[in-house]
Amino acid sequence: MVEPAPLTKQELASKLVQEIAKNGEDIPEKFLHVNGFPEAIDAPDLWKNSLLIDFSVLTSSTPAAADELAKLRSALSEWGCFQVINHGIESSFLKELIEVGKQFFALPLDEKLKCSAGDDIFQGYGNDSGYAGTQKINWNDRLFLTLYPLHLRKLQFYPHKPEKFSGMIEEYSEKLAAMTEATYKAMARSLDLAEDSFLKHQGKNAPITGRFGYYPRCPCPQSILGIKPHSDGTCMTFLLPDNEVDGLQVQKDEVWYKVPVIPGALFINFGDLGEVMTNGIFKSAIHRVVTNSDKDRLSLAAFCTPEDRYEIGPLSELVTDDQPQKYKKFDIHEYRRVFFETYAQGSRTLDVLRL
Ligand code: OGA
Ligand code: NI
Repeated sequence: MVEPAPLTKQELASKLVQEIAKNGEDIPEKFLHVNGFPEAIDAPDLWKNSLLIDFSVLTSSTPAAADELAKLRSALSEWGCFQVINHGIESSFLKELIEVGKQFFALPLDEKLKCSAGDDIFQGYGNDSGYAGTQKINWNDRLFLTLYPLHLRKLQFYPHKPEKFSGMIEEYSEKLAAMTEATYKAMARSLDLAEDSFLKHQGKNAPITGRFGYYPRCPCPQSILGIKPHSDGTCMTFLLPDNEVDGLQVQKDEVWYKVPVIPGALFINFGDLGEVMTNGIFKSAIHRVVTNSDKDRLSLAAFCTPEDRYEIGPLSELVTDDQPQKYKKFDIHEYRRVFFETYAQGSRTLDVLRL
């Protein structure tokens, strides 16, 4: 299968979840998981202890870093995700970023459509329902933006309103890029590898792509998902969740867990490319988003991938007699092709890439 064909603005407008929600139309069947889905459990202690990492300690050269590195290793090996605090980005800034994102989605449709990208499915304002094949459709609209490197941003898709938007995104992108580098180094250290083991396979212009996901309040949350279970096609993803409304959940050993909102924290999950690079030692987290009937939710996911020219495969340092190579080597174009194919079938991309 080739990548889905781009939509015209009129076609797009008719697919936007926000429009469907606003018009109070009958919900089209293609959204409905008629048999529901399994409930998630609360596990607050988990997120206060094993899956909460102090970034300033993790990236320091103090003796306390060892404990944080061990926590990082076990979180990524068992769960593929964790939350970070003390990462150096002010809580008030993050809160305002979510606010500004919500203000964008509150603009009139015509204004938002100025940011849609007919010819590029990874840019701009729109909706991903076109890739779903015969699968159920997710209850969200999105704004995709290249965040980093700054010279590769496509500013024609950046909103002019609210006025603060571009400046805040630029500031956040630069902070994220620094955090990405520090996180890759910590991940390598946690595996007793040289600090640049991941970084040397990314490239100086490794892209970070931002996805504002907007989940309007939903008339039947028991049978509609904001995002179906999936893993990300990234090395890792930094998620800034809504500071008021939860909805993100992760799966481990067939059980779903709610991810609590911790004010000021970022949620980091490992993705498929990361799982391949670590030869399966770190897991690409399966996660989903549920909806609610009371409040609109907004999040900003930042997807970190290597530059397109890099081949992706298990790091040679992590392939040994005890740990034989578990995944093929491939390039990003092959990955994307398999991703769209498996997405439309509702299967997992990683299953195709496993040896
Ligand atoms: C994603 C994603 C989670 C969220 O965009 O891939 O999983 O909370 N987002 O919006
Ligand atoms: Ni995701």
